Amino acid sequence: MTQLAAVVGATGLQGGSVIKALYAAGKFRIRALTRNPDSSSAKSLEQKYPGIEIVRADLDSPESLRQAFRGADVVFGVTQFFQNDILEKVENGDTDAEFTQGKAMIDAAIAEGVQSMVLSSLPSMNKVSGGKYSKVLHFEGKHKVEEYLLSKADMIRGYPVHAGAYMQNYVGNSRRSAEDNAVEFSLVLGASDKLPLTDIENDLGKIVVYVLEHPEECLGKPMAVCSGYFEAQDMVKAFTEVTGIPARHVQIPYEYLGSEDLAQMFQGFREFNIFDGMTDFAEYYEKRGVHLTTPAEFWKNSGWTGPSE
Ligand SMILES: NC(=O)c1ccc[n+]([C@@H]2O[C@H](COP(=O)([O-])OP(=O)(O)OC[C@H]3O[C@@H](n4cnc5c(N)ncnc54)[C@H](OP(=O)(O)O)[C@@H]3O)[C@@H](O)[C@H]2O)c1
Repeated sequence: MTQLAAVVGATGLQGGSVIKALYAAGKFRIRALTRNPDSSSAKSLEQKYPGIEIVRADLDSPESLRQAFRGADVVFGVTQFFQNDILEKVENGDTDAEFTQGKAMIDAAIAEGVQSMVLSSLPSMNKVSGGKYSKVLHFEGKHKVEEYLLSKADMIRGYPVHAGAYMQNYVGNSRRSAEDNAVEFSLVLGASDKLPLTDIENDLGKIVVYVLEHPEECLGKPMAVCSGYFEAQDMVKAFTEVTGIPARHVQIPYEYLGSEDLAQMFQGFREFNIFDGMTDFAEYYEKRGVHLTTPAEFWKNSGWTGPSE
């Protein structure tokens, strides 16, 4: 009997990646969770992946989570931070808003007898940096959810996965130069500062499938979903190599982020190897038969040739 996988955040980047890979693996029945099954993004999932089930669930409604997890063997869970409702709670002093979502997810999965949860979480930047960067709340909240999941090991098997900064962010942070029409990619990091990068749409799902196919190896052990530590300018150079279009890295001041959380995150990326000191991700996964996307492959696959203005 094939396993039933319930996927939280199915209409988003992470859940979408997981659904794509689970579907391609052909070994799972898939239940896609969304707050709005009638939305165009939910409908397009149904069209793209014939046979998947679309079910309503809201991370702020424990009862809806219980219903959505009923009968599932495995749950892929992802929590939110940079969404207005969560940010509002955080601004009003509820720094545990993301943890509350994650805990609700885990409690509902346990109550429904789900055997395994693959959880999208992150390391604690506070711990990684020895207390230097303690305000990266969207890392701390996820880490706390992960600790909670792993503390319930006698009731549910926990499989944390940690994604780096999305390669997709480069598209969002680009513009055309008014002077010479080159594509400018802006980032607070300097051109040769390093950061961990992930093609979230293509690679998260691959690792989730790997984890589910290798449960003994991955149980309780955070798996980094990351093609490598790259210089900030590597994505820019790869863009020009692939498209032939001139591009440049533009360093912007930290103040432009308008967020202490994000500012400390980038500083942490620059100074620490956040995934347990590991950097040879590509080699690690190649040995296991999984190829993760390089910057050049990302641009080739995306077919994107720069913003219109
Ligand atoms: N950006 C990065 O570089 C990066 C890197 C690592 C980790 N992350 C983390 O990734 C997470 C975001 O995941 P993503 O990129 O997949 O986000 P996304 O593309 O914005 O999608 C989020 C999905 O979550 C669903 N959702 C939102 N609030 C919900 C709620 N209350 N209950 C149930 N579902 C809800 C939405 O689906 P419906 O509207 O259909 O319900 C939406 O499609 C964040 O926690 C972020 O910190 C981001």
